[in-house]
Amino acid sequence: MAIRIAPIALEHIGSYRRTLDAVARERRYLLLLEAPALPDVEAWIRSGIERGAPCFIALDGDEEVVGWCAIHPGSWPGTEHVGHLGIGVLASHRGQGIGRQLIETTVTAAFAANLERIELEVFASNGGAIGFYEAFGFRYEGCRRKARYLDGLYDDLLLMALLRDEQCPSAPSAPVEKKSQAIIERIERESGVLGLVGLLTEHLSADELQVLLLEAFRQKGERSTRTAQ
Ligand SMILES: CC(C)(COP(=O)(O)OP(=O)(O)OC[C@H]1O[C@@H](n2cnc3c(N)ncnc32)[C@H](O)[C@@H]1OP(=O)(O)O)[C@@H](O)C(=O)NCCC(=O)NCCS
Repeated sequence: MAIRIAPIALEHIGSYRRTLDAVARERRYLLLLEAPALPDVEAWIRSGIERGAPCFIALDGDEEVVGWCAIHPGSWPGTEHVGHLGIGVLASHRGQGIGRQLIETTVTAAFAANLERIELEVFASNGGAIGFYEAFGFRYEGCRRKARYLDGLYDDLLLMALLRDEQCPSAPSAPVEKKSQAIIERIERESGVLGLVGLLTEHLSADELQVLLLEAFRQKGERSTRTAQ
């Protein structure tokens, strides 16, 4: 089915809220566990539009919202160049390239609007989203350990960011080495063993290293789970 990416407008609010609600109710990926009430969502969207915050939605053939990506600029003095990114795609529509179209469009608009840094938080258990952000060039910056305790499980929140002057590794002209370098830095930071990557890169490709990292995050999630029990 054809998908159209468009800036959010007031007419989409009801459909956007239903999609936000569906993703929130999965209870895994977002801090929200359900969408806020319609007037609150409307106020939030209105203020984003008024402030020029890039917010794009994916619309299906029936003009229903199946995904969104929004970047909200900081409101504290000195943080106006920083945007906070949120994204979600309906479960039934994932893995079809919609998230990629949304993030590319929204990040491009944000940098064109003079934002210089785009940051986000992602649960350590959300290996799919971590791989998605890495593929787009987001770099790992830190970890808020045991940031959530929900349904009997602890989860860490990973901090990731993309700077405007960093070329996106997934762009066709970007050097492959940059993506590898990001992965290398992260493995060494996570493992605490400098030089480990030198050894690994003799035997593994950058993609294999990424798989290794995602597995490490998965195991970390399991360790947190065991700690909670
Ligand atoms: C994360 C999310 C937005 C990605 O959207 P999507 O439409 O499923 O992603 P796409 O199909 O556009 O994938 C784009 C790229 O991301 C990467 N990717 C996507 N899913 C991945 C996964 N499960 N594991 C590793 N990489 C993945 C791939 O590199 C993919 O590139 P490819 O098409 O060349 O394979 C979507 O899965 C989602 O809504 N998840 C639940 C909500 C959520 O986690 N939001 C983020 C909270 S921080």
